[in-house]
Amino acid sequence: MPGYFITFEGVEGSGKSTQCRLLAEALRQAGHACVVSREPGGTPLGERIRELLLHAPGAAITSLAELLLYLADRAQHVEEVLRPALAAGRVVLCDRFTDSTLAYQGDGRGHDRELLRQLNSVAGGGLVPDLTLLLDLPVEVGLRRLAERGAVASAGADRLERENLAFHQRVRRGYLAIAAAEPRRIAVILADGGVEEVRAAVLGVVRARLPPAAGASA
Ligand code: TMP
Repeated sequence: MPGYFITFEGVEGSGKSTQCRLLAEALRQAGHACVVSREPGGTPLGERIRELLLHAPGAAITSLAELLLYLADRAQHVEEVLRPALAAGRVVLCDRFTDSTLAYQGDGRGHDRELLRQLNSVAGGGLVPDLTLLLDLPVEVGLRRLAERGAVASAGADRLERENLAFHQRVRRGYLAIAAAEPRRIAVILADGGVEEVRAAVLGVVRARLPPAAGASA
């Protein structure tokens, strides 16, 4: 049985990681075998790349080097984790995937959109999510959430979180444009409400799309 691939996307502070974890809990309770992963990261090599990307000391990373590191992370992750889990019939939840590259390196950094699509396809081996949940909210709200958690404006903020407001606004607009172009794959979920509210919206979308677990009562 083929697996089912769900990705979470959104700007900083959109609550993806929390919602990804909550969805995994709900799906496991419904009898689905779930794998949760993330990009960058998700493999031992990927976790080292993540550290370089988000907390590299010293000189700035060029935007091309940054792009290629995200792609190297993806190439490893798809081969080592995502494909095998999907081949084993798992529901795979991934915190960020190819749309992050389009929005951050495309709209954020200005890399050519068509080039990014080709590179995404090479790095991801053509893997496309069955469903993408875009958690959307004004960037100011997301960044305020991070600040409240003590991340931004302190040594705790990572390299991308420290980018200026205009960068994050371009990323958000980029995401919304991708979602408008692919409405069947991407569900936009309003994410400026409370965790429970967003969780219910996520579950509603996933229940309507995901086939029931084998052996589970409908
Ligand atoms: P996270 O902390 O939300 O998991 O994301 C790590 C950062 O990496 C976040 O700022 C978005 C960024 N990112 C990209 O710029 N391009 C990508 O392809 C991916 C996967 C993440």
